[in-house]
Amino acid sequence: MNDIVILGATGKTGRRVVELLRAEGRQIRPASRSSEVRFDWSDAATWEGVLTGARSMYLVAPEDPALVRDFVKRAEGVERFVVLSGRGLEHVGGEAFRGMAAAEEAVRESGAEWTILRANNFNQNFDEYTWREPLLAGRLALPAGDVPEPFVDVHDIAAVAARVLTEGGHAGRVYELSGPRGLTFGEAVWVIAQAAGREIEYVELTPEAYRAELLAEGLPTEVADELGAMFAMMREGHLAEPTDGVQRVLGRPPVSFEDYAARAWA
Ligand SMILES: NC(=O)c1ccc[n+]([C@@H]2O[C@H](COP(=O)([O-])OP(=O)(O)OC[C@H]3O[C@@H](n4cnc5c(N)ncnc54)[C@H](OP(=O)(O)O)[C@@H]3O)[C@@H](O)[C@H]2O)c1
Repeated sequence: MNDIVILGATGKTGRRVVELLRAEGRQIRPASRSSEVRFDWSDAATWEGVLTGARSMYLVAPEDPALVRDFVKRAEGVERFVVLSGRGLEHVGGEAFRGMAAAEEAVRESGAEWTILRANNFNQNFDEYTWREPLLAGRLALPAGDVPEPFVDVHDIAAVAARVLTEGGHAGRVYELSGPRGLTFGEAVWVIAQAAGREIEYVELTPEAYRAELLAEGLPTEVADELGAMFAMMREGHLAEPTDGVQRVLGRPPVSFEDYAARAWA
C-alpha cells in the first residue's frame, strides 16, 4: 500500500526522498501541485487525497501557519510525521518562518510519532535556488558577516528523512542537520569558483543595502523581511556550530561542501 506520503515531492529535498524510497522498492505517494497526487495547501479539497490511507508523512510546511495546524488536525490516520524545519527558528524575529514553527508544534501535539529535521542552509541554495543566478553572473552579495555556516547537502537531508520515515527508533527526536564544517559565505563562494573554474566575487553588504537590493529586484517586502531576519539570526552565530545529526541517523559523516561543489559546479 502506498501509505508513505511525501509532501513537497518535487522540491529540493522531497524529490530526493522520493528517489531514495523508490530505489528501496517502497510504495509511496508523492504529492504537490504538480505531482502524481495533486495536493495544494491552498485548496483543502485536495487534502483528502493525501490523507486517506496515509500512515507516514514527510511534511514540508506551507508559509501559512493556520493551514498546517488545520491539516495536521485532519490527519488522524497518520502514525508518523517527519517534519522538515530550520535550525535556529526560535531566534528569528518577526513573522518569518511561522509555517515551519507551526508544523513543529502541530505534530508535537498530534498524538502521532514525530521526528523534526532542523536543517542548516542547504548547499543546493547555491545551484538550485536563490543564489544560482547571482553566482552565474559572477557576484553574490549578502549580509552574512564572517560567521561560518555549516551548509548541509539536501542528499543528506533526504537520506535522513527516508531512514526516519521507514525505521523505528526516531520518535520524539529533533535532529539538527548540518554539514561537517562551517565556511563563511566568502569561503563558500571561493570553493565554488575553484570548482567551476570561473571568477566569482563575494560582496559583503550591510543589512540595509541587502534589503534595498532585494526590493529593487522586485521581491515583496515580506520576503525581504524574512531573509533579513534569517541573516540577522545567522550573524548572531546560532547556526555556526556543526551538528552530529547526519552521523547519528546515517552512521556516516555528512557530505562536505567541497564534494558538493565538485559535483554541482565542475
Ligand atoms: N533552503 C534552505 O536552506 C532551507 C533550510 C532549512 C529549511 N528550509 C525549508 O525547507 C522548505 C522547502 O523545502 P524544499 O527546499 O525541499 O522544497 P522546495 O525546493 O522549496 O520546493 C517546494 C515544494 O513544495 C511544493 N509546493 C509549493 N507550493 C505548494 C502548495 N501551495 N501546495 C502544495 N505543495 C506546494 C512544490 O511543488 P509544486 O510546485 O509541484 O507544488 C515543491 O515540491 C521550506 O519550508 C524552507 O523554509 C530551507
